[in-house]
Amino acid sequence: MALVAVADGCLIGGLIAGPLIPLALQLAAHGPHAVVHVALNTIMIRAVAVLPQHRSYGVGRALLREAVGTARRARVPIIYGQFDTATAGLDEFYRRCGMIVTKPGAALAFSDYLAAPVRHVPPTGHALFYLPLGTVDRMRECSRPAR
Ligand SMILES: CC(C)(COP(=O)(O)OP(=O)(O)OC[C@H]1O[C@@H](n2cnc3c(N)ncnc32)[C@H](O)[C@@H]1OP(=O)(O)O)[C@@H](O)C(=O)NCCC(=O)NCCS
Repeated sequence: MALVAVADGCLIGGLIAGPLIPLALQLAAHGPHAVVHVALNTIMIRAVAVLPQHRSYGVGRALLREAVGTARRARVPIIYGQFDTATAGLDEFYRRCGMIVTKPGAALAFSDYLAAPVRHVPPTGHALFYLPLGTVDRMRECSRPAR
């Protein structure tokens, strides 16, 4: 997913999101269907940014809202991302945009949303944010090894 914010014909912000392949590959031993299941049912927000002079006007929130709306329409059960805790205010930004923000270093387990035993552990100095949008349990076999 690639979203852009435009004002007066100029690009003022953007958001990039999509599946995190290493997350999906945690289920490689369960077979390709399990990998595809995770890739199609998780969206990681990889970057969101607004030009400094256009910040604090709701552009970042609008980009996140659009990403969440797209995920909902696609019936993706969870959207998430990570941020550097050294950057002041990002935890507040994500909270104010309706995200759940974890403690720095805390992992996110996807088993409640995907019925698949994958988890995302943030790198050192990072925390996660996420928003559950539903559950997918039609692929319970993803948690069983492939034969
Ligand atoms: C983070 C960023 C995208 C926010 O964009 P923005 O357009 O200024 O955000 P919004 O105006 O939509 O803010 C939404 C809410 O978050 C709050 N917020 C935004 N930035 C904040 C900050 N640094 N500290 C505290 N609150 C913040 C706003 O006050 C607003 O809250 P409210 O309307 O409920 O009062 C922007 O600051 C940015 O581009 N930063 C540099 C890139 C970056 O660090 N991206 C995130 C990691 S990839």
